Amino acid sequence: MKALLLNGSPRQGNTRTALEALKKGMNQLPDMDIQQINAAEAGVSPCIACQVCGSNSYCVADDDTNDILDAVAEADVIVFATPVYWWGMTAQLKVIIDKFYSKVKTLNTLKKKVGVIVIGEAEQDDPQYEIIPKQFECICDYLGWDVVFSKTYTADGPDDLAKSEADMEEIGTLWKLL
Ligand SMILES: Cc1cc2nc3c(=O)[nH]c(=O)nc-3n(C[C@H](O)[C@H](O)[C@H](O)COP(=O)(O)O)c2cc1C
Repeated sequence: MKALLLNGSPRQGNTRTALEALKKGMNQLPDMDIQQINAAEAGVSPCIACQVCGSNSYCVADDDTNDILDAVAEADVIVFATPVYWWGMTAQLKVIIDKFYSKVKTLNTLKKKVGVIVIGEAEQDDPQYEIIPKQFECICDYLGWDVVFSKTYTADGPDDLAKSEADMEEIGTLWKLL
């Protein structure tokens, strides 16, 4: 099984901690091939709405866009993991998701299991923990992908999530849902 983890955080913090715990669990599955893309380090320029992809299904950008889209297409499992920035996912991750537009005619024919992890500083009663999972749900509905887990956590300082035993324990079991 191929898994692609898309990390929206630009720092060594809670999202990376969550993904490390998730990967540790996923490695218990047989034949797992896990690739992680850190959005902040990926060379992906924002969509310019040129619509050229409408005829060739490829992005005209001369950067990492098409390689990343190929990895998205090949993955059986995709995990979107993002800190909350201003009640949304990070811009770094959104830039990559916007580029799904150029390969949508392929992506919406492919079955995928999707996991979502959202981490913000605010407590769990904040509307951001409904807004962001809902956005991923809409994206996945549109593409015909199956969201198998969608989890939100509260953590602020880069080590906060690692200090939460209950959250770390839960993340360590999410692989069972794949
Ligand atoms: C630019 C920016 C915007 C943020 N906006 C929010 C927000 O709207 N809601 C929230 O709960 N936390 C917000 N935060 C806090 C982060 O979501 C929080 O620190 C999170 O744990 C960061 O994850 P990371 O350690 O994986 O980068 C913001 C942080 C930054 C840098």
